[in-house]
Amino acid sequence: MSKLDRFGAPVSHHDQADIDVFGQAAELMLGFAPDPVGMIKEVLKKSPDFIMARCFLAGVYLIASDKRRQPLLHQQYAELCKLADRANAREKGHIHAIGLWVAGDLYGSSQAYADILNDFPRDIVALQYGQQTDFLLGSASSTRDRPARMAAHWSQEDPQYSYILGMQAFGLEEAGHYAAAQALAERSVAMNPKDTWGVHALAHCLEMQGKPDEGVTFMTSCEEHWGHDNYLSIHNRWHLSLYHIERCEFDETLAMHDAHMVVTPKSELMDAHDSAALLWRLNLDGVDVGDRWNPVADKYAEVVDQAYMAFTDLHAMMSFAATGREAEAQAQLAALETAATQAGTAGDIIRIAGLPLVRGFHAFGRGEYAQAKQLLSAARHNSHLIGGSIAQRDVINWTLTEAAMRDGDTATVRALIAERTLMKPHSPLTDMFTRRAA
Ligand SMILES: [Fe+2]
Repeated sequence: MSKLDRFGAPVSHHDQADIDVFGQAAELMLGFAPDPVGMIKEVLKKSPDFIMARCFLAGVYLIASDKRRQPLLHQQYAELCKLADRANAREKGHIHAIGLWVAGDLYGSSQAYADILNDFPRDIVALQYGQQTDFLLGSASSTRDRPARMAAHWSQEDPQYSYILGMQAFGLEEAGHYAAAQALAERSVAMNPKDTWGVHALAHCLEMQGKPDEGVTFMTSCEEHWGHDNYLSIHNRWHLSLYHIERCEFDETLAMHDAHMVVTPKSELMDAHDSAALLWRLNLDGVDVGDRWNPVADKYAEVVDQAYMAFTDLHAMMSFAATGREAEAQAQLAALETAATQAGTAGDIIRIAGLPLVRGFHAFGRGEYAQAKQLLSAARHNSHLIGGSIAQRDVINWTLTEAAMRDGDTATVRALIAERTLMKPHSPLTDMFTRRAA
């Protein structure tokens, strides 16, 4: 008889101890806590034919935005193909989703993860990996809709319910349903204060509604729960920093960067993105960040020719532009131009949005503000294609505003400030830009 994992989804494996470890690892992953990958690797050493554990490990590599993980994904997929005839329907769904990603059909893969939920609404792993693909692909409506497929099969009786609510809240927020999103995020955090994705969803709600005071109060009040021992702590500190920037509290922002966000050779790219995005915003606000860019640019120099996730490329270009590393910038542009001619989702995204945006930031760094303005204006409404959140991609609007300012195009600056004021009527940061434009 088929066994179930701790969430109630079927697994073809029969060793209960292995299945228990899989469940523990999946739950750690939901909390972005260490170290589910290490646990799964240990299980696979003992039981290399544990298909769902291998799907879990492959998914970790699939949702990594670092192309250096792709060979590991391909390796796991090859192993899964050998085991596929023993897989149950749920596991076949995972193998199908992984295979589509390996083949370069990233949108197809994302939808395949959603389709698993039709028959297996208790597959919280498929939900989490699927929502991460939505994030990588900037698919706001899917981020919203995916949890809805299975939410009716969960209730507050489930120990993991806060994670469902947190994912629902983030999806609703990215799709612009701020009131509903905030209500769910608050429930998620009340239910489980350590649910760092729930905290993150609430941070997004407050950011997008222009509520930096509430944001600082909330994030500092529960920092003990989200600020340590999880893979989202740096990103959640980035959100706290955004509130400080919105209040023009630049010294606080720099202090938080230096205390928690300095890039090291061991940093993951997602952490480098937070450092780069913060330093770039501070530069736009006229803050001298000293030599803080150097370790960030060193990190991105390792991946200068990836041309895989355009969101990574945009942040890499920020670091090259800020440090004047023209050789790296040119190498990156050449890699993107090649990738833009290639078939597959990544090439399509780079061609439509990634390359124009990276070129725009490159032009900005070289002081070619009219060129930057033209490139960023043309591409910014397709910028969701490069992935990340709306809050993260707001840096594109700010860079365009500054380019227009430096180009002497006051009319465009006024128009962009009017756009921003619609969403954030009371912002000291916007006021500062308005004074400069005047
Ligand atoms: Fe975020």
